[in-house]
Parts: sequence; C-alpha cells; structure tokens
Amino acid sequence: MALQSKWRYGFMFLGIQLVVMALLSREGYHRRVTYFIRIFRRPGATSLPHHNLTVEGNAMDVYSNLSNLFLKYNRRDNLPLCPKTSPFVGGPIHVSFPSRLTLANVEGKNPLVMHGGRYRPPDCEARHKTAIIIPHRNREHHLKYLLYFLHPFLQRQQLNYGIYIIHQAGNYTFNRAKLMNIGFREAMREEDWDCLFFHDVDLIPEDDRNTYICDANPKHAAIAMDKFGYKLPYNMYFGGVSALSPLQYLKMNGFPNNYWGWGGEDDDIGIRVSLAGMHISRPPLKHGRYKMIKHNLDQGNDVNPKRFNMLAKTRQTWKLDGMNSLEYELVSRQYLPLYANITVNIGTEKGLKTLIKAPPPQAAAKDEPIDKEAAKVPPKP
Ligand SMILES: *[C@@H]1O[C@H](CO)[C@@H](O)[C@H](O)[C@H]1NC(C)=O
Ligand SMILES: *[C@@H]1O[C@H](CO)[C@@H](O)[C@H](O)[C@H]1NC(C)=O
Ligand SMILES: *[C@@H]1O[C@H](CO)[C@@H](O)[C@H](O)[C@H]1NC(C)=O
Ligand SMILES: *[C@@H]1O[C@H](CO)[C@@H](O)[C@H](O)[C@H]1NC(C)=O
Repeated sequence: MALQSKWRYGFMFLGIQLVVMALLSREGYHRRVTYFIRIFRRPGATSLPHHNLTVEGNAMDVYSNLSNLFLKYNRRDNLPLCPKTSPFVGGPIHVSFPSRLTLANVEGKNPLVMHGGRYRPPDCEARHKTAIIIPHRNREHHLKYLLYFLHPFLQRQQLNYGIYIIHQAGNYTFNRAKLMNIGFREAMREEDWDCLFFHDVDLIPEDDRNTYICDANPKHAAIAMDKFGYKLPYNMYFGGVSALSPLQYLKMNGFPNNYWGWGGEDDDIGIRVSLAGMHISRPPLKHGRYKMIKHNLDQGNDVNPKRFNMLAKTRQTWKLDGMNSLEYELVSRQYLPLYANITVNIGTEKGLKTLIKAPPPQAAAKDEPIDKEAAKVPPKP
C-alpha cells in the first residue's frame, strides 16, 4: 500500500513535468525548457533567490582540532575500535573559497592522507569504510576546493576512506551516471568498501554531522543546498550527493548508462530505488546542508533533450541498462597524493567502439596511450 502510494506520487510528479513541458513547448521550446529547469534543478550559476543563507554563528573551521591527530601517525596494530560518535564531530562548518588555494596547500593540510587519497584514523580502527566517487572533467578548480573540505570532513568522522575521481576522457558529451557505475566497479575492485558516496564535484558539505556512512536504504545526502534555499526542491530529488551500499547498488542494477548530457539521470536513479523495492533515506535537514561552487554550464554537458522520454520508460529499462550492461575502457589509473584518478573511455550513444575505433577528428588525441593489459573490461558482476 505504502509502495503503491509512493508510486502514485512518483508518476504524478512525472506527469506534472510532462504536462508543463507540453505547455511550455508551444513557445520557444529551448528557452522555456531551460527556464523550467532553472526553477527545479541546478545547472551552474543559475539559481533560486537565496531566501535563507544565514550562516550559523558557531560554524567552525573544518581543520579545527585535527592537528592533534598528526602527532599519532605511528599507527599501531590492534587499535581499539573508534567510538560510535567521533569526538571531532562538531556541527556546522564554515565554508568559503580562499583564492590562491593550491593542491599543494591541501596536501600540506592533510599530512595523514596516503597515496591515492586513502586515509585511516591513526588512533583507532574505523567502524566504516567509505569510497567517494566523483565524476569529473574540466573541473580542476572545483576539485581543489572539494578536496580541501572533504578530506578533513571525513577525518573528523573517523572513517576509513578513499577518494576516486572518475575522469571522462575525450570531449564527447558528459555522462555522469555512467561514470558513477565505473567508479563503483573500479573502487570495489580495490577494496571491500561498505559504502559508496556518489558525489558531485561542486558540492561542499557544511555540517560534519552529515555522516558519510550508508543507511538501511539508499541515502540522498544533499537535501539542503544553498541553491535551493536549503530545502529539498522536490520529493523525488536524488541529485548531488547520494550513498549506497554495494548490495543496494547492485539490487537496483546501478545507475543508467544512457543519459548523455545534463539532467534526468538523477531522477531515473530515484525511480530505480523504488522499482528495486527500496526507499530513499535522508539525513535531517539541518545536517544535509551543502554549498555549491558557482560555475557556468560546462561545454560538452548540454541539456539532454531526451531525458523526459527516457524517464517515462525507466520501469522497462532499469533491469537491462546498468551495471549488467556497463562497458568502458580504462585509459589510465593514477594514484595521486590526494585522490586516485581513474581515466576512462566511455564511448558514445552508439557504443564503445565508435570512440575507440573511429575517433572524431580531435577526440582522444591527447589522452595517454591505452595499456592493453589494464584496458580489459572486467567481468560483469
Ligand atoms: C532561516 O533559518 C533559520 C535557522 O535555520 C530559521 O530559524 C529561520 O526561521 C529561517 N528563516 C526563513 C525565512 O526561512
Ligand atoms: C577542540 O578545540 C577546542 C579549542 O580549540 C577545544 O575547546 C575543544 O575541547 C577541542 N575538542 C576536541 C574534541 O578536542
Ligand atoms: C586524470 O588523468 C588524465 C589522464 O592522464 C588527465 O588527463 C586528467 O587531467 C587527470 N585528471 C585529474 C583531475 O587529475
Ligand atoms: C577538447 O577540446 C579542447 C578545446 O575545445 C581542445 O583543446 C582539446 O584538444 C580537445 N581534446 C581532445 C582529447 O579532443
């Protein structure tokens, strides 16, 4: 019964979207569509009016108190289990974007982070192992700020964690959800993570009580973004930052591989959660707060005009399209001081071969040569 009514709600939402789309399409389709999206979603610098951006007065520096840990880097075996609630968790974090920040600064501030962006608490055995998966292309500037905040944020929570950047090679249209699927497979190949956080590169968490661990159901963490006046924009919203355990991820066949360009894939994912018999779990509104780094719409990430048609078919497609149909080619894997850079060739709508065998004039020209051995696509799960 509960499921049924949730479904009715989901379809009602879709229905409303389609009706509004139909109405808007009578005049100036593209402009209107873009306007419509601006109201409900968050492309780049466009935003809702900021109604309530009051920073809580006691917001702390994200690095405060962590320096005590640096004295304990001689990690012993047989450490006690970390406490259930980390003593470093203190609530609201002050988020601002210092100019002239460099990756070297971030490294300097995080001496306990190991090669490939890995960390374990030096003084206790973590209760949770969390991988952060960040789809990426041409956002080095944002990545720098995210790393500056995310490393100490996760250390405050005493997690055993790793940060994976999944970098889309070439200039073909961006495909966020497919990069997430790749991140899942590549991260799970390296480590038995018990939770994966799928994280947009431009969202900075503003409260360290927003714990980066998984729930009994797929979790949508970015529920209160500054762009939306720190409120959930609509009930089915699943974008920005979400967290799934490996079992939850595979139960819904991962994310869709066929959303090219901006928009739609996160709603598809939200629908998959219901179709797989789960529901969306969310942190309290005052914990799930995020600040978005401003940017313009990316090149190579145009609005996907097919997204509404595709969303209407998720019920038919989710079992066929996802982790069980994932194909890509590994271009390179670099373990850098603050993150692992997994660079992949993900092909086009027409498949993997189109990009690999017949690259468009400029595509893939500058990427590193493909290592044939490493490039083998791993077996399907
Ligand atoms: C703004 O946020 C504060 C604290 O979160 C709350 O007390 C206040 O009612 C909010 N104001 C508006 C206009 O939403
Ligand atoms: C954090 O630092 C403040 C002062 O800098 C101190 O009052 C507080 O007790 C510290 N908390 C922890 C958990 O070390
Ligand atoms: C990841 O590696 C690729 C291939 O070497 C490179 O082009 C890209 O700039 C790297 N990205 C980041 C964020 O390090
Ligand atoms: C992608 O496009 C940029 C500029 O538009 C160009 O400089 C670069 O060489 C292209 N890269 C590839 C791999 O085609």
